[in-house]
Amino acid sequence: MAKPSTSPAPDGASGIRSLPSQPRQRRRAIAKAIEGLDDAAALVLEYDWPFWAREAQLPPAGDWRYWLILAGRGFGKTRAGAEWVRAQVALGRQRIALVGPTSADVRDVMIEGQSGLMNICPPWDRPVFQPSKRRLVWPNGARAFCYSAEEPERLRGPQHDAAWADELAAWSRPQAVWDQLQLGLRVGDDPRAAITTTPKPLALIRGLTEDPDCKVTRGSTYDNRSNLAPAFITRIIRRYEGTRLGRQELNAELLTDAPGALWTFDTLLACRVPNAPDLQRVVVAVDPSGSSGTDEGDAQGIIVAGRGVDGRGYVLADRTCRLSPEGWGRRAVEAFDAFAADRIVAEKNFGGDMVRFTLQAVRSTVPVTLVTASRGKVVRAEPVSALYEQGRISHVVSGDDHPLAELEDEMRQATASGYLGARSPNRLDALVWALTDLFLTPDVPGSAFLELARRDMLDGIV
Ligand SMILES: Nc1ncnc2c1ncn2[C@@H]1O[C@H](COP(=O)(O)OP(=O)(O)OP(=O)(O)O)[C@@H](O)[C@H]1O
Ligand SMILES: [Mg+2]
Repeated sequence: MAKPSTSPAPDGASGIRSLPSQPRQRRRAIAKAIEGLDDAAALVLEYDWPFWAREAQLPPAGDWRYWLILAGRGFGKTRAGAEWVRAQVALGRQRIALVGPTSADVRDVMIEGQSGLMNICPPWDRPVFQPSKRRLVWPNGARAFCYSAEEPERLRGPQHDAAWADELAAWSRPQAVWDQLQLGLRVGDDPRAAITTTPKPLALIRGLTEDPDCKVTRGSTYDNRSNLAPAFITRIIRRYEGTRLGRQELNAELLTDAPGALWTFDTLLACRVPNAPDLQRVVVAVDPSGSSGTDEGDAQGIIVAGRGVDGRGYVLADRTCRLSPEGWGRRAVEAFDAFAADRIVAEKNFGGDMVRFTLQAVRSTVPVTLVTASRGKVVRAEPVSALYEQGRISHVVSGDDHPLAELEDEMRQATASGYLGARSPNRLDALVWALTDLFLTPDVPGSAFLELARRDMLDGIV
């Protein structure tokens, strides 16, 4: 029996979506053909993704390296990503990386979820999931390897010929994981990656949308309405419709600057410089956290910044980590040495004198200033953002990699009404301590403190 046509209709719909736009006679013929299918043929049709997919869920034609689906919640992103992996296996790719926000997401969503690989692969070509080896193996020998975005170091080394990254905007360390994934995407002559995510205002996503090697597909929650449970639609629409966040979560708009953002995309782009001049003072600032050194805990923000002979500020490095106290203490002292710093400034709210002890256990002579956060985060960050507005601070970023990208992502999510990010902004906190020490402390010569205080007073009078 002839298979119904899956060629795209003029309006761009494909497969079953094209039915309404086909001439009536053809529609009737297709309906009859489907009705007459025997069980085996019906099963084949059930798993024929190009037949069921909407055009936006099928990979674009052409010579791309990355395919980014930037779409609203429930659009069918995960399904499109899983189907793309299935197609890659059929094309003969052998080593595929699967990366999700956490190990549980990889297993529960990308592999075992309703739109996941086990469910969408047909019974005759279904992979075997080997959880202890964190991999899937298909009957043709192709393998997919599972990675959690919380463990970028596991991506260091293995090589792949394809990769699927789900919910990249929700990864806790998107840039670091993406960098590792890209480095290993080098098997064969045409390695490719599919990225399926609801957007967030991250530099990485913005960079991908501007990358000539990346094809971007956009879509909204409403596009998949007919396949979503009414309860999901009601819940999600009630929660987001008409809100700014809804433009992101439902319509996948790449919101740029949050209202009241203390740092905008443009401010941060404009402040990049390739080198710093000679420096008068350098500090390493540490925002310790309660992490016990596991990947699940909070990071310890470690930022290195200096004041140039030109009187301007230079953010030199982000050495943020997730380590045990001994580990982060060592890392801070290593940064102190590497940048010939004058002192380490550390917040003592967490751990009190333990913080000094941790640093001086690594080296007893290292000069440490402990600072206390008595005011809220925004109040502390505002004068620092004013220094950027005045064009007095630069970020030293050279080459193509963006070692300060994760710091800048945190900065962009700091707003006058609070921090919008999911995790504690430890990098931002450390930055604020570093620049406060260098520029906003009354007893530091040349400090901008008095100038800003005067400005605030004038503002108050006006
Ligand atoms: N073209 C399609 N035809 C039929 N069902 C589809 C299609 N696309 C997606 N679906 C179904 O719609 C539901 C939502 O899809 P999916 O989980 O892929 O969405 P998502 O965009 O990843 O959602 P979330 O934002 O929650 O991660 C799933 O049940 C999926 O199987
Ligand atoms: Mg999904």
